[in-house]
Amino acid sequence: MSSCAPVSSETSIVPRHVAIVMDGNGRWAKKRFLPRFFGHKAGVDSLVKVVQACIDRKIEYVTVFAFSSENWKRPSDEVSGLMGLVLAAVSRYLARMGSMGVRIRIVGDRDAVSDKLRAAWNEAETATQHNTKLTLSVAFNYGGRWDVVQACKQAMRAGVSPDQLDEAKLSQFMAMSYAPDPDLFIRTGGEVRISNFLLWQVAYSEFVFSDCLWPEFGETQLDAAIQEFRLRDRRFGGVKTADAVAALGA
Ligand code: FPP
Repeated sequence: MSSCAPVSSETSIVPRHVAIVMDGNGRWAKKRFLPRFFGHKAGVDSLVKVVQACIDRKIEYVTVFAFSSENWKRPSDEVSGLMGLVLAAVSRYLARMGSMGVRIRIVGDRDAVSDKLRAAWNEAETATQHNTKLTLSVAFNYGGRWDVVQACKQAMRAGVSPDQLDEAKLSQFMAMSYAPDPDLFIRTGGEVRISNFLLWQVAYSEFVFSDCLWPEFGETQLDAAIQEFRLRDRRFGGVKTADAVAALGA
């Protein structure tokens, strides 16, 4: 085997948790001479299809970046369009998500959004809280750095002393403490960066970057990403048992 060859390909392995940066909506719309909003609208349809595909593949957690702490810098009509789209998507897809067995969680700073949107999120979370097929976490007004800071604040408020604070303790206060860390991180749209998404949680995630624009991302591209994940040699900073034994004998 050449040193650049894939290490193993176990066909039955699926990531338990997939995190997705749904990038490329604007360019998808531009290619069609449409306003950017239509790209985001197509992006919601793509999300619903990908969630169903993940359920079919027995993936338990999907977390998507819908609106970052930095997205407020976008033109105001795009920001309000996205807010309206999320509101509309909740009412349009809530029942469908419920019948698909999806539990919805929203992660991010809720203070800055309208009362109407906050109420819609609360309703979506409450209505789906007992669903068990897949947990869909929607990161909205979310940033990885915000998450670390809010976790520290919560820990301090809870009276955790510096001596008590370690990684496991801080994890309890992170916005996604209810989920395992993502195994697979997918970013569509051709950019190769994290953009302040789940900084704490992706420490040992496998990254797959796709040139596909998010509205064009479907089952084929998801399967390609899962296949790439299967070819990765996950060591979590350690070594494989056989390598460790060999090293001891050396
Ligand atoms: C990035 O594409 C995409 C976003 C900033 C928003 C993604 C949001 C959705 C798909 C809607 C989610 C709604 C729900 C209900 C979860 P971009 O605008 O940066 O695209 P570009 O890089 O081509 O300009």
